[in-house]
Amino acid sequence: MEIWRWVFVGILFLAAFVSKIEAFKLGRSQPTERISGSAGDVLEDDPVGRLKVFVYELPSKYNKKILQKDPRCLNHMFAAEIYMHRFLLSSPVRTLNPEEADWFYTPVYTTCDLTPNGLPLPFKSPRMMRSAIQLISSNWPYWNRTEGADHFFLVPHDFGACFHYQEEKAIERGILPLLQRATLVQTFGQRNHVCLKEGSITIPPYAPPQKMQTHLIPEKTPRSIFVYFRGLFYDVGNDPEGGYYARGARAAVWENFKDNPLFDISTEHPTTYYEDMQRAVFCLCPLGWAPWSPRLVEAVIFGCIPVIIADDIVLPFADAIPWEEIGVFVDEKDVPNLDTILTSIPPEVILRKQRLLANPSMKQAMLFPHPAQPGDAFHQVLNGLARKLPHDKSVYLNPGEKVLNWTAGPVGDLKPW
Ligand SMILES: *[C@@H]1O[C@H](CO)[C@@H](O)[C@H](O)[C@H]1NC(C)=O
Ligand SMILES: *[C@@H]1O[C@H](CO)[C@@H](O)[C@H](O)[C@H]1NC(C)=O
Repeated sequence: MEIWRWVFVGILFLAAFVSKIEAFKLGRSQPTERISGSAGDVLEDDPVGRLKVFVYELPSKYNKKILQKDPRCLNHMFAAEIYMHRFLLSSPVRTLNPEEADWFYTPVYTTCDLTPNGLPLPFKSPRMMRSAIQLISSNWPYWNRTEGADHFFLVPHDFGACFHYQEEKAIERGILPLLQRATLVQTFGQRNHVCLKEGSITIPPYAPPQKMQTHLIPEKTPRSIFVYFRGLFYDVGNDPEGGYYARGARAAVWENFKDNPLFDISTEHPTTYYEDMQRAVFCLCPLGWAPWSPRLVEAVIFGCIPVIIADDIVLPFADAIPWEEIGVFVDEKDVPNLDTILTSIPPEVILRKQRLLANPSMKQAMLFPHPAQPGDAFHQVLNGLARKLPHDKSVYLNPGEKVLNWTAGPVGDLKPW
């Protein structure tokens, strides 16, 4: 009985929905919408002329050599640390004169350390980062001037500069002491978490732009899937008793909706994964071990309304991208009502979200393309850095003044790298 009621509701809804889309498309050739006001404008800001960045030149063992050893680092979800380096080297915001720099950037590829299965693990990152900071602070005068307060670092691993893949361990470690004054550019975003430093810039995970491009299907293809998700519901290997992984939210999705015909959900990743997202109205983006996953980027790129299930998440470029307007936020505790929540969103609200998602500037901001393009994620990082200028005078230390503790942290981290 229950199921048939949902099938019926679903069919009615989709019918109403598809006809609305068609009507809309007839009326206008470009069904996109731009957010007016500050958010949209910020997204289209041009950082050139608003900041100057000095790129430290480090021995290649901190970056290029590591990559040569394992070129797989170019494609994993933390690859932004590599592409950001390449981008900055040829960016018009780069200055070769450190005296005129607003920001200093240290190119260290701390997440390019992969297991045979391709899983990046940050065990060497703290030593490597310390070593790089020791080097820049002894060879140039700029680090000691502020102890890093006008320096930024890419730390895209799961828990950013806490450098551990397990949350409890990451919390125990905290942010690497030497990075406590620096600006961190990281994927990790969760409010009130020891691994998220105030003033950090939250970026999207890296998703290969060319690969997504090759899976685009005609824009007019109807969105006949109501809710779509592919991925784990349980992580039995790492969470045998259940409840820790995704704080139980993914398990709740499966247990409540595995037999619901409106929900196309499964652990199996089909080869048509990207195409399917373009045929779906809603794409679930629940937390996993971390609050975010590449699904968030994929949903935006493929125009599928992201349903964000991750309490207290800080989304990428949240000061520029109007997440509340393009996505749907569902509290983890409300997962059992997901069907009612989604079916009660009025079609005109859905259509507006879809038009906003269709705006190219929204998609551009989620990507790290090569070569870079105006408004892409590289530019959003620069915009974020530019908005922090000028630096407060209090960041400059008196000559000889020290704030950071160079010997703090686990003893293992103090070993040379
Ligand atoms: C910066 O300070 C450290 C000691 O904290 C010192 O070893 C180093 O030489 C200083 N760097 C410069 C360039 O003076
Ligand atoms: C620096 O940290 C170490 C290790 O936690 C501690 O023993 C030392 O007292 C700290 N130094 C200062 C100046 O706070």
